[in-house]
Amino acid sequence: MKTEETLSTLRKQAEQTMESLHRQLNQPLRFIQKAVVDGLSTLYFDILGKKPKIDEEAARLARENFSRYFPESLEEMLSQFLADPEEYQQKVVAFEKTCPPVFVDFPTNPSYYRVITSDPSRRLQEVLTRLALLANYADAGAPYRALDVGTGFGRLARVMEETLAALDPEGKGYRVYGMDILESNIAEAKQLNHSLGSRIRFFTRDMNRIPFPSDSLNLVNITDASYLNFRQRRPFYLAEIARVLTPNRGVCCITNPNENTTLKEYNYVMMRTNYRTYLNPLNILKATVLGKCSLYIDALSKARPDWALTTTADMTNTLSRILKVDIIDIHNWPKKGGPAIYSGFTFAVNAETKKQLARYTEFRESHKADDEWFDL
Ligand SMILES: C[S@@+](CC[C@H](N)C(=O)[O-])C[C@H]1O[C@@H](n2cnc3c(N)ncnc32)[C@H](O)[C@@H]1O
Repeated sequence: MKTEETLSTLRKQAEQTMESLHRQLNQPLRFIQKAVVDGLSTLYFDILGKKPKIDEEAARLARENFSRYFPESLEEMLSQFLADPEEYQQKVVAFEKTCPPVFVDFPTNPSYYRVITSDPSRRLQEVLTRLALLANYADAGAPYRALDVGTGFGRLARVMEETLAALDPEGKGYRVYGMDILESNIAEAKQLNHSLGSRIRFFTRDMNRIPFPSDSLNLVNITDASYLNFRQRRPFYLAEIARVLTPNRGVCCITNPNENTTLKEYNYVMMRTNYRTYLNPLNILKATVLGKCSLYIDALSKARPDWALTTTADMTNTLSRILKVDIIDIHNWPKKGGPAIYSGFTFAVNAETKKQLARYTEFRESHKADDEWFDL
């Protein structure tokens, strides 16, 4: 089959899958299911007192100091950063000395993650990543290079690899990379994917310092990970993504939990479609790990301004106004009836984006020796 035909077939399949996943997510939750989730959550968090403990003194310091260093809006933060990256970075270092950020360890070992990734909302993330790749594949040069940031055990990197393999029977060539800040997740990802015959290259790095040359990647994906980056550092990874993507063709896909979703709402939506999985006692045990982590993030994001989540609207507005990117698509799901638990969007960088980034790119390239960059 010709690439054009494969592209159109894959696009059609992705759109059909998206429709069917939305239908599942929009099923009403039965009263009895809602009562079970509510009861279990209340028992675990309120009666057994499993609420996360936040360091109140550290949170107070963060509240007092944040606005002395940084503006309120992401838009203003990114403008300041692009105008003088060195000065902005020094402010981050100074602020974090006074108020050390809290790193939330997010282990994604496959056996526990399998419980949650069978959920339709997670599968929708996979569809968005696939659609982002299909959006620019035909115009991209060879080889096609794709990076999954905050890859966990490589779920989305594998989606990219599978899609690229289907598109490339004649050998235009492609490379897929997966990076994560946790060494243990990368070890897990390597073991799992290589045993499946995959050739994804996994490595450990912070999303704020992507070790690739400017203009070198066709696709960057970040699923369910960028919200874990501290608020004052968000201009770093946004600028990094725009720097490494190729102008006029490079596409980025980002999904995050919706900032208005509480853990209970999240559980309701999961239960609509996945209650059989969730009512398995072993899975409940595994999901407790997730519950703790999500609840902790929930509590942190309310208690500390350096942890406050950024809305999808803020991100897309900032990217289009400050970095002049082209927003291709914005998704919230489920579409109707109940809270949206995830939002995702895709954008493409253009020549104007590269102009806005000129100062930052120079700054970053001059610090290249600080960390090892990939030889492409
Ligand atoms: C909820 S998991 C999502 C994993 C994967 N993207 C998926 O959806 O299956 C979040 C991941 O982000 C990673 N992460 C957190 N902060 C990071 C950072 N600053 N740089 C790179 N990865 C980070 C965590 O280690 C974790 O693997």
